[in-house]
Amino acid sequence: MTDTRDAYPRPIAPDVRPGDPDTAVKEISAEQAAREESLVREAVAAFEGAASPRLRQLVQALARHLHAFVRETRLTTEEWDAAIRFLTRCGHITDERRQEFILLSDVLGVSMQTIAVNNEAYGEATEATVFGPFFVEGSPQVPTGGDIANGAAGEPCWVEGTVTDAEGKPVPRARIEVWEADDDGLYDVQYDDNRTAARAHLYTDDQGHYAFWGVTPTPYAIPHDGPVGDLLAATNRSPMRTSHLHFMVSAEGLHTLVTHIFVRGDAYLDSDAVFGVKESLVKDFARQDAGTPTPDGRQVDGPWSQVRFDIVLAPARRTRDEDVHRIAVHEGHLLT
Ligand SMILES: [Fe+2]
Repeated sequence: MTDTRDAYPRPIAPDVRPGDPDTAVKEISAEQAAREESLVREAVAAFEGAASPRLRQLVQALARHLHAFVRETRLTTEEWDAAIRFLTRCGHITDERRQEFILLSDVLGVSMQTIAVNNEAYGEATEATVFGPFFVEGSPQVPTGGDIANGAAGEPCWVEGTVTDAEGKPVPRARIEVWEADDDGLYDVQYDDNRTAARAHLYTDDQGHYAFWGVTPTPYAIPHDGPVGDLLAATNRSPMRTSHLHFMVSAEGLHTLVTHIFVRGDAYLDSDAVFGVKESLVKDFARQDAGTPTPDGRQVDGPWSQVRFDIVLAPARRTRDEDVHRIAVHEGHLLT
């Protein structure tokens, strides 16, 4: 019996160069096609001895897809070389403060697809979105109503809401990590002075309520002075992200939520560089004139804003291999 897995994805029609109608049709002979397919099978089979079934599945699928890419595009050696140089540049610019590979994954939509696969819709549970490259472990803790800005430039923003489970029960002591860019569009880690600003964590109270002061989100460009920026420029894409505030919410027995909220009316809602925007996460950030009393009585100079974000956490669930298999259906073949 022929094992269709070795040919997955299906061999590309030899006379087609998808997406490139101006290029002369590249025809390959049956002999050439047989050689290429044989190499795919050989490369896939080389990983058959992996002790971990999951590792075997991942590397074999990776080999199949990479071979399919090379064959479909009829990749030239110059293009292969350019790709190696591009990835090498991504490596060289990456350090503990700059993560070019996450950026690359983000602008390809791969981060968002991974989020989608791992956060299947569950009732009214809040939708997830990309993690991004700017989360830092060990953020300071603030009390309910505390200020996460810690000197970050920006218009003050009061953020509050509740955390409940899918049955609507309040979740006390849920840990909420929040982080955001300042008014200049930069995260603290993008400055050279080791500051910690516009990031913190806090816990919900006994009623599952939380509140804090941050800064009103503004649009910012993802770092685009490196290879990923060059890719965006070469493909006529904007590096701008829709204004947003990051959340990561975790609680015992519940699925950890990584998400953002976005500012309704933002100019980049339809062109987010990393495909992160979901309608359910677009919130009203209500502008308040200078002098308007604040919810906690804090004196604020100038205008401020406020937003409500009620969070619903799905039950905890393991990422089971069966789930991944079920999702990874392509042209009728299961990756099992
Ligand atoms: Fe961000």
